[in-house]
Amino acid sequence: ATIKAFQATLLTWFDREGRDLPWRHDHEPYHIWVSEIMLQQTQVQTVIPYYERFMTWFPTVTALAQAPESQLLKAWEGLGYYSRVRNMQRCARQLLADYGGQWPRTATELTELIGIGPYTAGAIASIAFNEPVPAVDGNAFRVFSRLLEIDADIAKPQTRQLFEKVIARIIPKDRPGDFNQAIMDLGSSYMTARNPDSAHSPVKDFNQAYLDGKELDYPVKTKK
Ligand code: ADE
Repeated sequence: ATIKAFQATLLTWFDREGRDLPWRHDHEPYHIWVSEIMLQQTQVQTVIPYYERFMTWFPTVTALAQAPESQLLKAWEGLGYYSRVRNMQRCARQLLADYGGQWPRTATELTELIGIGPYTAGAIASIAFNEPVPAVDGNAFRVFSRLLEIDADIAKPQTRQLFEKVIARIIPKDRPGDFNQAIMDLGSSYMTARNPDSAHSPVKDFNQAYLDGKELDYPVKTKK
């Protein structure tokens, strides 16, 4: 009963208060992919204008595959980590050469693509293709470690699997992409790293660390 109540509370909040972001206007895998790569090292408000321009310059996988390097780098100027956009073009070419231009539809297959790790694969598979898989990034570590008082060390590589297993039991089969994006919105509003406002959070009743006054103890991360 608790899982169902959590899902319903979270999704009702997301339907009312979820952010209206340009990559949320449709479920095109290309759109989800570009946004997720940009968002890896850059904040949402910074990404928005870059994303909009990128889509006018390179509206399709084919356009991206064919872009001259100078334009590619120009599109990324200010975002940093140019390997991201170089890998995106390699991935676009891989899709055309090896997949007939069709995106694979599962997270497992998506991780075969250049530059797509487990988080990005989970995000694309859930948001674009409705596969009920988690998308575990720093946000998800923080939100779920607090909700459930999970004290596994997120600096350890095995910990991702533990979180994936836990989240897999909670993610709703009918709305996995909205669920994952609601967790992202929660992590950037009420459940931030340093200044959480859990008293006003839509899921405060489900937030065990908050109920115990221990939010800032989570996530547990050892220094290496
Ligand atoms: N951060 C990472 N992915 C995101 C998304 N799809 N929406 C908002 N913030 C994000």
